[in-house]
Amino acid sequence: SLGRPTSSMKPSVFVTRPDVPDVGINLLKERCDVELWTKNIAPPRSELLKGVTGKSALFCNIADKIDKEVFDAAGPNLKVIATMSVGYEHIDLEEAKKRDIKVGYTPDVLTYAVAELTVAILLATSRRLFEAHREIFNGGWTSWSPSWMCGPSIKGKTVGIVGFGRIGQETARLLKGFGVRQFLYSGRKDHPEASDIGAFRLPIEELLPQCDFVICTLAMSPETKHYFNEKLFNLMKPSAIFVNTSRGGVVDQDALIKALETGQIRAAGLDVMTPEPIPPDHRLLSLPNCVVIPHIGSAGIESRNDMAEVTARNILTALENKPMPAELKL
Ligand code: DGY
Repeated sequence: SLGRPTSSMKPSVFVTRPDVPDVGINLLKERCDVELWTKNIAPPRSELLKGVTGKSALFCNIADKIDKEVFDAAGPNLKVIATMSVGYEHIDLEEAKKRDIKVGYTPDVLTYAVAELTVAILLATSRRLFEAHREIFNGGWTSWSPSWMCGPSIKGKTVGIVGFGRIGQETARLLKGFGVRQFLYSGRKDHPEASDIGAFRLPIEELLPQCDFVICTLAMSPETKHYFNEKLFNLMKPSAIFVNTSRGGVVDQDALIKALETGQIRAAGLDVMTPEPIPPDHRLLSLPNCVVIPHIGSAGIESRNDMAEVTARNILTALENKPMPAELKL
């Protein structure tokens, strides 16, 4: 081993899933010792703690809770945590900052995929695709019927976007093609991009009563927890359709269930909920006017490849003390 670099001289990375797209893993393998968790589920706590021990970098995702215990288990070698997600509320940023550990995430590369899925679930909800599909199997499809399985079209309607960041804006751009009459958005500040899209900002209390579709793309934070509460659902039209593709935690789910059960709103389409995964016997899943899908917003093939690549590059650049493609300011 005279002067020859051995594998033990390479930085080491723990990757919390074996099915991370190859593009990311191959990049890491060029310069690091890579250890992959072996199962296609989130590693149990003990395995996460074991896996991260002594590593220089952690490649994780939103299902891995990265808190003080994980930082402690990793020890002083840990230089960077890179999450294959745009959301980062699963990482204790204070703790990372205290220890001078860099944190990377994957904004931008999933914006289109999540916006596309938002349009898909909006249509699946408004045109009742899953409900109609079930009718084929449960005997409900007896013949063509004039009023059967009808739902509102998007054309000519008012769409409100709550959380007008990258994903909210992209969703509006995609929906433009459907002939929306008016886009409204709410949020703390004016967005210059809104004028190209033709969107107006209104306080939430004025926006909700006007909207036929309410789309939530709010980032999760202590301030947005249970943002959509009973009071806000009560401001919506009885014909309103509510769509959430951001985080389940921004909705008071009991208030949503009540609004769906009482007809306070027409329907909801959710890619995110509480908890995830949702138990199959959960009340939310028994509501015919609620479409639920399992947090697949960013699951475009292209976006997942890009997310894996950005996450790997975040790790490699951080390990070399170079600017990361997407570093969170701590
Ligand atoms: C994210 O990136 O935060 C999504 O929720 C998962 O891709």
